[in-house]
Amino acid sequence: MVRSALSIGVLSATVLLGGVALTSSASAEPGAAAAAPSKAVRYPADSLRALGDRIGLRIGTAVNMDELGSNTDYTKITAEQFSSVTPENVMKWQLVEPTRGTYDWAPADRLVAFAKTNKQLVRGHTLVWHSQLPTWLSSDGYTTTLSNDELKALLKKHVQDQVKHFKGDIWQWDVVNEAFDDDGKPRQTVWYKAWGGLGYIADAFRWAHEADPKALLFYNDYNLEFTGPKSNAVYDFVKTLKAQRVPIDGVGFQGHLDTQYGFPDLQNNLQRFADLGLKVAETEVDVRTFTQAAPNVNTPTDPLAPYAQESYWSRALKACLAVRECISFTPWGFGDTYSWIPGWFDNPQEGAALLYDADLKPKSQYYVIQQDLALAAGAPRRNGPGAGH
Ligand code: G3I
Repeated sequence: MVRSALSIGVLSATVLLGGVALTSSASAEPGAAAAAPSKAVRYPADSLRALGDRIGLRIGTAVNMDELGSNTDYTKITAEQFSSVTPENVMKWQLVEPTRGTYDWAPADRLVAFAKTNKQLVRGHTLVWHSQLPTWLSSDGYTTTLSNDELKALLKKHVQDQVKHFKGDIWQWDVVNEAFDDDGKPRQTVWYKAWGGLGYIADAFRWAHEADPKALLFYNDYNLEFTGPKSNAVYDFVKTLKAQRVPIDGVGFQGHLDTQYGFPDLQNNLQRFADLGLKVAETEVDVRTFTQAAPNVNTPTDPLAPYAQESYWSRALKACLAVRECISFTPWGFGDTYSWIPGWFDNPQEGAALLYDADLKPKSQYYVIQQDLALAAGAPRRNGPGAGH
């Protein structure tokens, strides 16, 4: 049995590799906003968060607020395994302002409070998107009955009000989400049309920065993992934003991967964006595969599929580990029952994409990630300014 005692900064942990896990405790964390609880938080020394702490890498999860607090196992895993949380839905415009002029911050406030109690940082998701808009604004994100002037005033107020409401509580904001199509052209959303171009993006970053100068501001998208028209277009675009001194701090790579496609040149893409002077993060990682029909929506059709999934999870994490500017690695939830995938891809069925199964038991993918983190002591430590450590 290998026994190693670690003492790194605010964290001290005793790890028994191959033996019984003890606990880690984290005390006050710079970068964690306001109202730090007085009691140290305890979590297993072999948890993903404790292992990530050793190199300053935040391991996050998307959180389903229908489960947090009411589902005991779900709540325990959220607290013990992750050092960062992202609201899967409750900070989206559709949920924070379902009726025009009336905000409902309650579910998101509850997540922020949970994060403070458990010494976690929060990724705010997301301020400007074409999807999940309230129906009074647009039912499809591409058409609206509102005028361009109204849309401009509404977006400004939305960004300012939401960032101010959570001021000091958000580590990274996904300021703008999915503004480009796969062919690299700007998505023709209501925002693009109202501004007559991509000018809404620089405006949104500036408004967000004014409202909370300490939050890290991210552009977030899918398929940036693969070098190609979309990744290239976003690369050129954020380079222009930097040149124009727009306050953008980072780029989020969602990382919705699928075993039917080859593994992307993810590390190269993380690195080239980082080389622009940006932080990067993997923000919504999952690895789906073909699965059986209901009720077995999370059982792969191919018994060998889990091996491919383990490999993809491992490579996705290692790409982040290899790039010093990659400050967080966030799976998009952790229990297959709660994944967005089976409800989205129904022909053919896909699923089984997360680290825990439908009974909230860790899958082989979990143990692969855990081992990768345990062996990552030599990876570059993420301790740059604003990394939240
Ligand atoms: O809130 C309503 C509820 O009132 C209604 O009864 C129910 C009936 O379908 O729908 C509920 O809304 C659902 C919402 O999640 C909240 O649960 C929507 O139907 C459903 O479409 C929505 O899905 C979310 C999806 O974004 C919407 O595009 C997923 O949970 C969420 O995981 C997914 O997350 C996105 C990221 O934000 C951005 N990147 C891609 C990622 C995966 O699609």
